Amino acid sequence: MIKTSVKTDDVRKHKTECLIVLCPEKKPAGVVKEIDGLLNGAISAAHKAKRFEGKANQTCSFNVMGLLGAQQLIMVGLGKTKDIKEEQLRQAAGTGVKLAERSRYKKVALHLPEGDAGKPGKSKKDKYGDPVGHALAEGAHLALYHFDAYKQRDEDDPPSRIQEIVFLVGSKAKVPAFQKGVQSAEKLAEAVMTTRDLMTHPGNTATPTYLADQAKKLARKYKFTCRVLEKKDMQQKKMGALLGVARGSHEPPKFIIMEYNGGKKSQAPVVIVGKGITFDTGGISLKPPGSMDEMKFDMSGGAVTIGTLAAVASLKLPVNVVGLVPATENMPGGSAIKPGDILTASNGKTIEVLNTDAEGRLILSDALVYAQKYKPRAVIDLATLTGAVIVALGHVATAVVGTDDKLIQNLIDCGTETGERLWQLPLYDEFEKAIKSDIADLKNIAGAGVGAGTITAAAFLKQFVGDFPWAHLDIAGTAWGSEEKPYVPKGGSGVGVRLLVHYLKNL
Ligand code: BES
Ligand code: MN
Ligand code: ZN
Repeated sequence: MIKTSVKTDDVRKHKTECLIVLCPEKKPAGVVKEIDGLLNGAISAAHKAKRFEGKANQTCSFNVMGLLGAQQLIMVGLGKTKDIKEEQLRQAAGTGVKLAERSRYKKVALHLPEGDAGKPGKSKKDKYGDPVGHALAEGAHLALYHFDAYKQRDEDDPPSRIQEIVFLVGSKAKVPAFQKGVQSAEKLAEAVMTTRDLMTHPGNTATPTYLADQAKKLARKYKFTCRVLEKKDMQQKKMGALLGVARGSHEPPKFIIMEYNGGKKSQAPVVIVGKGITFDTGGISLKPPGSMDEMKFDMSGGAVTIGTLAAVASLKLPVNVVGLVPATENMPGGSAIKPGDILTASNGKTIEVLNTDAEGRLILSDALVYAQKYKPRAVIDLATLTGAVIVALGHVATAVVGTDDKLIQNLIDCGTETGERLWQLPLYDEFEKAIKSDIADLKNIAGAGVGAGTITAAAFLKQFVGDFPWAHLDIAGTAWGSEEKPYVPKGGSGVGVRLLVHYLKNL
């Protein structure tokens, strides 16, 4: 992890390679105006020429050698003051540190002038430190994520990486709360990056066994419990849907059970369930080859579940949380299930498998049945479940479908505050009818012409949750992306961890 500290040095004199100043969309004022004076009007000239007006994530870099304590100054825009919330702070901090890193600076200082922080969220998480410090550190760390596990290192020209970030604040009185915010953001960011790592490792590394081993390792590190059910345990528990999907693969399936008890013994836990398909070929209903490689990300829900347990344990949240990850490959081996086969899930419901590529809902069904034994206060599942969600919401929002409007609204609000946006889709009765089979209790896909693929998948899951408040998050569009965002890299985003931690903090 990059080294961080919080200091009260004068921004103009602080010695650093690169000073990053965040600035709203307005004429230079306050500290920025003072700096502008020392730079002989360079910032106001940039403003006048529209090179830098403070628009969201706009940047401008100045050589300030000899004029400030810093060698280089990077200004980053925050947009209009009335719109500045934590999301803008995360994005601007991320934009600034990435530009500094690309410019080969290794030690940077970040400053957000007092009064320019806008109105960050009003949640209970002040307990976890100053929300501004939290947002800035969160954005900065998440933006500087790199995955180079499989790249040979060029010893003559190693990539330049930021090693140290100093946060400059206005007064000594602000330091303790700010520091607390920075520290809790670091724990959270670390869990998000662990999640991104798990997602990004290819299918030949990140097998079900690997996921289970990593979950156990994190459980030891952060002090939560982790048990893993093997194939014979699944057989004993009659998890016929999960076992059915696993039949096409030589990799042994794993059912990962994580428990963290930070709350009162009497308090019912929140159960998080994550789809852990470590590679989805489609099975006998084989997928076309174009971008099939992306199906290594089909365990994103599972990775988010593991990362969330790591985060809540590392932050020592006063809640009880259970994480369940059914993990298997979906392969078309000689013993694979075939279209038309009928499986029996652990609650006795029979499922006609009309498409082996609709495997996520099959493995989740047994996990959701298992979740019921905790008598949970809420069940939240995350899955890269349907391509249809990309048609509906693209790559900008996660779909939420469920049975409990309060839980759903709560999650939607958490999405707005964390920048991991959710949009609700309706679970009408018609969609539950659409998954009734002629010869079994259920079929795993709706008939042709029904449409609403994301909702019919959710309607299927609903048959396995019982009467507990439940929300399903389809992250197929948001779990990974082909475009870099201010603090989310190309590839695995880790979306869901910050959302769930926020939800659990505010319970
Ligand atoms: N893992 C896929 C969903 C997916 C597709 C995620 C594209 C990300 C990008 C899932 O297992 C799947 O194959 N779903 C099918 C369901 C269909 C057969 C009813 C789909 O969406 O095409
Ligand atoms: Mn599939
Ligand atoms: Zn899948």
